[in-house]
Amino acid sequence: MTLISLAQATYVVAAVLFVLSLAGLSKQETARRGNVLGMVGMVLALVATVILALDLSERQVWVTAILIALVFGIGATAGTWRARTVEMTQMPELIAILHSFVGIAAVLVGYNSYMTAEVDAVHQIEVFLGVFIGAVTFTGSIVAYLKLSAKMKSAPLTIPGRHAINLAIIIVSLGLMAWFIAANALVPLAVMTGLALALGWHLVAAIGGGDMPVVVSMLNSYSGWAAAAAGLMLSNDLLIITGALVGSSGAILSYIMCKAMNRAFMSVILGGFGADGGSVVGGDAYQGEHREVHAPEVAEMLATSRSVIIVPGYGMAVAKAQYPVAELVALLRAQGIEVRFGVHPVAGRLPGHMNVLLAEAKVPYDIVLEMDEINDDFPETDVVLVIGANDVVNPSALDDPDSPIAGMPVLEVWKAKQTIVFKRSMATGYAGVQNPLFFKENTAMLFGDAKVQVEAILTALRVREGAAA
Ligand code: TAP
Repeated sequence: MTLISLAQATYVVAAVLFVLSLAGLSKQETARRGNVLGMVGMVLALVATVILALDLSERQVWVTAILIALVFGIGATAGTWRARTVEMTQMPELIAILHSFVGIAAVLVGYNSYMTAEVDAVHQIEVFLGVFIGAVTFTGSIVAYLKLSAKMKSAPLTIPGRHAINLAIIIVSLGLMAWFIAANALVPLAVMTGLALALGWHLVAAIGGGDMPVVVSMLNSYSGWAAAAAGLMLSNDLLIITGALVGSSGAILSYIMCKAMNRAFMSVILGGFGADGGSVVGGDAYQGEHREVHAPEVAEMLATSRSVIIVPGYGMAVAKAQYPVAELVALLRAQGIEVRFGVHPVAGRLPGHMNVLLAEAKVPYDIVLEMDEINDDFPETDVVLVIGANDVVNPSALDDPDSPIAGMPVLEVWKAKQTIVFKRSMATGYAGVQNPLFFKENTAMLFGDAKVQVEAILTALRVREGAAA
């Protein structure tokens, strides 16, 4: 077996590992194994690609080898540093910026391929589509990064006739493709690149607030197709397979998230959602009187309850409160109190955000339930602790057809006997809408940092336990 055929066989093994990795990632219990399989697959893929890229018969092969090693070194150092320093709450913006790299890579591969490869209509279509998808992914991901990191307002940009503008860009691009195939000229390719960059920017700028999770997974899908297009241009089978896997799994995830949020897939993709007549209000808009409680009172309520549901949200992640929350759960369960978690599909800032944090704090998987599994149980629940969640427990999603989050299924926490909301102020959540839950009679606000407050409840419970002993 030659080195080349060994490298090609390695490609097949890597592709199988990527499929197994995706399968593993679909369940919490197997997610770690899925990650390991993906990493092994990627190492094999990189080694095989280097072997295929190096022409051993060439006299200067070591120059190429040194250049590849240098690029590897820089990439690996930057990647390791970023992965080690990134906060869990900053993951979505990191993912968004990484998608933009895939997009720009597809554009560069496209231009390189145009300048170096022979003219052939099939290859020209590959180049044109690769550059188009890459450019849309590039600017779209940059806007997603800016919105997620609050460097740009998250409200949707709704310029008049926006759908017509998008459609016009697509139609003009089709005309430019015909020109490009006929003349193999740089001008149509360059003009299309400019238009696609503008389209990517505009598409994501038009998507607002609560719909950003779908955008991130949609851009994930685009980046997969951009990689597949680059694979076609480079005649690299593994890149085509991997790109198609990422592209299709991202599309499936976007669809699932749209269903979970009761959004029409096309309306999210085309943007402008929540802008027409929506009642986005600022953080200072109050809707009546709220009631405040303190940690010792909450500890007393918990100690005398039979069933408790905890609803975690972005604020729990910011406060890193999952560790004391896990301790609180263990303490209450040891006293025979039933404690479960209700996790909304878009709680936090990325798919599965809360599940990862709770698993990290060693909360047992079997008490972490999804929204659909737990929503009917709130009326029979004594105390609900809403820890740093806001939009995902907002009743106006169900009651107010004018709300920007109207139609999104939410955790119906207000149906419990008593609901305690942990947050620092009366400010709104990510979607920028006020939450009538805070003003309900059976809701009380526990102001302060979630971690500090959960620790204070733990202390009060321990003091109570000590006094009883
Ligand atoms: P949010 O609606 O963003 O609410 C989080 C709440 O946590 C805020 O109201 C904030 O109130 C509070 N908070 C922040 N820091 C805190 C701290 N240190 N201690 C205590 N509370 C703190 O979160 P959610 O309910 O999880 O909803 C998620 C939102 O993000 C949805 O709109 C969703 O569409 C969007 N989103 C989700 C994703 C994915 S995929 N999950 C991705 C992007 C966007 P104070 O400021 O008053 O403390």
